[in-house]
Amino acid sequence: MAAFKTLDDLGDVTGKVALVRVDLNLPMADGVATDLTRARAVAPTILELADKGSKVLLLAHFGRPKGARHSQMSLSMVQGALEGVLDREVMFIPEVAGPVAAQAIDILRPGDIGMLENTRFWPGEEKNDPEFARAIAANGDFYVNDAFSAAHRAHATTEGLAHLLPAYAGRSMEAELKALDAALGKPQTPVAAVVGGAKVSTKLAVLENLVGKVQHLIIGGGMANTFLAARGVDVGKSLCEHDLTAKAEAIMDAADASGCTVHLPYDVVVAKEFAANPASLRTCNVHEVAADEMILDVGPQAVEALGDVLKTCRTLVWNGPMGAFETPPFDAATVALAKTAAALTKEGSLVSVAGGGDTVAALAHAGVTDDVTYISTAGGAFLEWMEGRELPGVAALSA
Ligand code: 3PG
Repeated sequence: MAAFKTLDDLGDVTGKVALVRVDLNLPMADGVATDLTRARAVAPTILELADKGSKVLLLAHFGRPKGARHSQMSLSMVQGALEGVLDREVMFIPEVAGPVAAQAIDILRPGDIGMLENTRFWPGEEKNDPEFARAIAANGDFYVNDAFSAAHRAHATTEGLAHLLPAYAGRSMEAELKALDAALGKPQTPVAAVVGGAKVSTKLAVLENLVGKVQHLIIGGGMANTFLAARGVDVGKSLCEHDLTAKAEAIMDAADASGCTVHLPYDVVVAKEFAANPASLRTCNVHEVAADEMILDVGPQAVEALGDVLKTCRTLVWNGPMGAFETPPFDAATVALAKTAAALTKEGSLVSVAGGGDTVAALAHAGVTDDVTYISTAGGAFLEWMEGRELPGVAALSA
């Protein structure tokens, strides 16, 4: 991991304007934020800078308005939620640069917090337009990026600004980068990766990268069916990308060549229809799936064996559920394996890092959120990191 500056490297910032990139892309229902995890993640950085006497000016995107104003995607929608999390007032500024923004910033006193409008209302954001970045930078003294979950985007406020102002990683970014480095950068071995989720097509690059880096690759979820099919298993009417079996075989060959053991389920939970607790529910060996059945979870014997694998490992990276975890009882494998990982982490024998989309929800469902070493708030950025790609927002901090 290349070196980057953190808030510890800041001198006296009293009265200085901090342009702080955060991710406030909160999930919403009927205009109300339904999950405040991301707001909570950036709170320490915002409060630390405010308490040090900075004028804190937040930059964030919200949704995908594609370069035009949309009232439903105004960042003012999350102002109240953020104020609640911070327990401070946040002044909303309906511009991102220019004289109106400059005037509003003048009103802020040291320690005050302002929030600029959704950066994606301006086409220059996603184009990483240098002029747009310069107009924003003109109002700030230094730049802090605390939005790891947007770091896979080379946008003006995630990448461009880092080249125009002294740039620092915020506390959440710092914690994220340290955790990820401990998981795949310089991990303690053996390393296990759990990769689940519905489709292998969305995670091919992740799997290709991981087989060269980890000693155990545990494949679960619907995507395991494609690997089983590649090994000649008849998966009945399970979700399966039959056109990708050759890719799956190539991944297993690459794993063999680099000494990575691929673990596929050998018993599975099947049903004839996908519903909660269906009458046709049964557990069987993977070779006994009937033509009218679908695999919906990893079976209990395989889960126990996977738990034994984790006991031999020092590091775990987890992305994606093992089964259709939102519908009981197909959450059983995810919950059981998550509990084993959490117990090993608590004992101190395992460093466990999880992230990406459904994973956070799956681990919360298993009740282990506080017992894994680190849970990333990122979706796409976490996956790109698992693919081994350089994230532009992170690279710019180290430049
Ligand atoms: C996310 O929600 O994963 C981030 O905020 C990035 O959003 P984007 O996929 O619209 O760039």
